[in-house]
Amino acid sequence: MGIASIAPEINSAAAQFVQKKGKILINNQWSDAASGKTFPTYDPATGEVLAQIAEGDKADIDRAVSAARKAFNGPWRKMSPSERGKLIWKLADLLEKNQEEFATLETLDNGKPLTISKAADVPLAIDNFRYFAGWATKIEGNTLNISSPGKYFAYTLREPVGVVGQIIPWNFPLLMAAWKLAPALATGCCVVLKPAEQTSLTALRLGELFVEAGFPEGVVNVVTGFGETAGAALAAHDDVDKVAFTGSTEVGKLILKAAAGNLKKVSLELGGKSPNLVFSDADIDAAVKGSAGAIFFNQGQVCCAGSRLFVEKGIFDRVVEGVSAQAKKIRVGPGIDPKTHMGPLVSKEQLDRVCGYLESGAKEGARAAAGGKKIEGKGYFVEPTVLVDTKPHMKVVQEEIFGPVVTAIPFDNVEDVMVEANNSVYGLASGIWTKDVSRAHRVAEKLQAGTVWINCWNVFDASLPFGGYKQSGWGREMGHDVLELYTQKKAVVTAI
Ligand code: NAI
Ligand code: MG
Repeated sequence: MGIASIAPEINSAAAQFVQKKGKILINNQWSDAASGKTFPTYDPATGEVLAQIAEGDKADIDRAVSAARKAFNGPWRKMSPSERGKLIWKLADLLEKNQEEFATLETLDNGKPLTISKAADVPLAIDNFRYFAGWATKIEGNTLNISSPGKYFAYTLREPVGVVGQIIPWNFPLLMAAWKLAPALATGCCVVLKPAEQTSLTALRLGELFVEAGFPEGVVNVVTGFGETAGAALAAHDDVDKVAFTGSTEVGKLILKAAAGNLKKVSLELGGKSPNLVFSDADIDAAVKGSAGAIFFNQGQVCCAGSRLFVEKGIFDRVVEGVSAQAKKIRVGPGIDPKTHMGPLVSKEQLDRVCGYLESGAKEGARAAAGGKKIEGKGYFVEPTVLVDTKPHMKVVQEEIFGPVVTAIPFDNVEDVMVEANNSVYGLASGIWTKDVSRAHRVAEKLQAGTVWINCWNVFDASLPFGGYKQSGWGREMGHDVLELYTQKKAVVTAI
């Protein structure tokens, strides 16, 4: 299927893996979908079929949920936290051992540069598993001094929430699987994971590693398939205790409705339109490079992309020229080519969506200081784009584009820019470039966003909580905050 022609020197394990027909993982057994149906996953650099994936739907979700329930009521609940932690650590070791293969699979399926898969996606996923392996032994309750001293003894137990459905997107397929799976397993939950239909490969390979590491059957189940069928069935399932979702705000709202049936717990990590503020006292070179990275990293397909660049008037032209120069320098090409800085968008659908925004911006009067067009030829490539002359009401300013497109907007003073920065239904991330420490922290306090980066962007760590204000989501992933999402507290009171 064209792999050899893409890159003859490709990682051989990855080349072999894509030749296999994708199956579903339930109870540590691989099988076809109950319907027998499959669907293709594409190489976004060429538009060619990369592999066939099992098309799971409600029947497979039902089977996976009952496997997870059995594991939750059985071996997984009985296993000591220390043993659970050891298994998660072992999984991280196996991932590390196979890192080249994972990086290659990610690049083939998603399109992102191999250099990035190797430097970011895979190591961050490994680190995430290790961080949460450590948490398995540190889940604690409290003793409480309740009223009527001497009469009662009271304590809390922190218990796993149970069977968890996890629905993840295609922009960081392996890393999003790690963000979801690691805390769920550390806290003692069992999981049915539904990868995005565009990028199932690394989740499937990860499923193999869970079996190899020795996780009991049913603890981790992977059901591939489409959102409207497999995903919807998981979100609505009456025997699922919690659903964790990362994806569009639109689907986030559907998840919420689907969860209403049994009032399962819900956590959501949704879209963004993150403001990036550059003040005139900033280190301009650092701000220019950082602001370009904030939007162009991962082809702009990042929920916390710095997609609204606000620049103080006196330095606006200089910063726009700088970011545009960076955009023009970016080498766009197949991710597998080590010289590539930016790969294709993930799918034809995403390419059409992003190009639709470019057209809408042009029609409404925005001007491209860099890029602005689709790159003709095979594959789903688009030019890194900087838009100026925008108005606050324009779709390109208001809506999440999820592509390498930034709108650059001048501002007069800090009061004005705070209003504009917060003028969004989203509140995921934000950034500030300045040398004035007092101002940085004053502005940080006022930004309505789950993350504020000062003189940096896209700094992630397993210990940092990540999540959204407003319509960017519910709950925080990573750090100790995520433990709240996968546990519930029980108050135990004894008369003494
Ligand atoms: P999406 O929200 O449809 O897909 C994300 C996941 O949800 C996938 O696994 C999909 O199969 C599943 N899904 C879709 N419909 C579902 C349903 N009714 N019930 C349960 N699960 C369902 O995102 P899509 O369509 O791929 O991209 C559309 C836009 O969403 C992007 O342009 C971007 O703006 C945003 N997005 C945001 C992401 C983020 O990280 N916050 C990630 C991916 C997309
Ligand atoms: Mg969708």
